[in-house]
Amino acid sequence: MTTMTGTPLLAATGVTMRFGGLTAVRSVDLTVRPGQIVGLIGPNGAGKTTLFNCLTGLYTPTEGTVTYRGRTLPPKPHLVAQAGISRTFQNIRLFANMTVLENVLVGRHTRTREGLLSALVRGPAFHRAEAASAQRATELLAFTGLAAKSGHLARNLPYGEQRRLEIARALAGEPGLLLLDEPTAGMNPQETRATEELVLAIRDRGTAVLVIEHDMRFIFNLCDRVTVLVQGEKLVEGTTETVQRDERVVAAYLGTPFEGAPGQEEVAEVEAAEEAAAESEGQGR
Ligand SMILES: Nc1ncnc2c1ncn2[C@@H]1O[C@H](COP(=O)(O)OP(=O)(O)OP(=O)(O)O)[C@@H](O)[C@H]1O
Ligand SMILES: [Mg+2]
Repeated sequence: MTTMTGTPLLAATGVTMRFGGLTAVRSVDLTVRPGQIVGLIGPNGAGKTTLFNCLTGLYTPTEGTVTYRGRTLPPKPHLVAQAGISRTFQNIRLFANMTVLENVLVGRHTRTREGLLSALVRGPAFHRAEAASAQRATELLAFTGLAAKSGHLARNLPYGEQRRLEIARALAGEPGLLLLDEPTAGMNPQETRATEELVLAIRDRGTAVLVIEHDMRFIFNLCDRVTVLVQGEKLVEGTTETVQRDERVVAAYLGTPFEGAPGQEEVAEVEAAEEAAAESEGQGR
């Protein structure tokens, strides 16, 4: 569902991030529109996470601007979260010794505007807000398939579920835009498939998604648009078809394309065979 029209949700313009002599991100433009899933891909060290950090107020870009719903974002993570952008991290950041439910409740904090005084007094407004948060957190655990793990300590979850919990926590802020940094890293194929479904469901509920992934099948299955970063610069931006066909993208990942490289048809054949194998495997269980 590619939406070409409408006001951009997120618009990064000329974003540059330098660390001393190293330019990690160079003059990057990036747009995410309502209802879109946008992929951000590129080799290791391309500057993908650094760009995320620039978009979420963790870093103040050396140059360039970032707007959300037409307004310049303040370069402070909590203000970006309040504005409506949530994220997950490449290196999972959970409260290991809190329960799954508590981790999601922490994510509600950008949302609940109950003041400190109200919390101290613990008046009716505080209790109402708390009850609403608990209900919403429980819903999110069901949505992310973690309902049964609600009372478990985060550190006891398998890796794939920790990644899902990070997503649940990010969703607790009721974001208009969700940024995912390698959501399927370390997952097995089944978990990756489930995460694809989850990302589609998140988009269908009205949250746009910007996702960094090395899993190209994940990217090409899900994304309306894909931006390719190489050495900090945007190499290509377009639909999955455009990006898949672009020789420079192939070159950036695999080195120079060789003569007789598999064409679209062969790739489709291989994918169909893999799909069939996966299906018969599924039926075998
Ligand atoms: N805080 C920092 N200080 C100095 N250099 C940094 C910092 N953060 C990132 N870099 C450098 O910026 C470049 C881009 O790194 P970044 O982590 O953004 O890449 P990436 O595309 O996310 O890679 P990967 O796919 O491996 O996660 C790298 O050369 C990295 O060493
Ligand atoms: Mg990264």
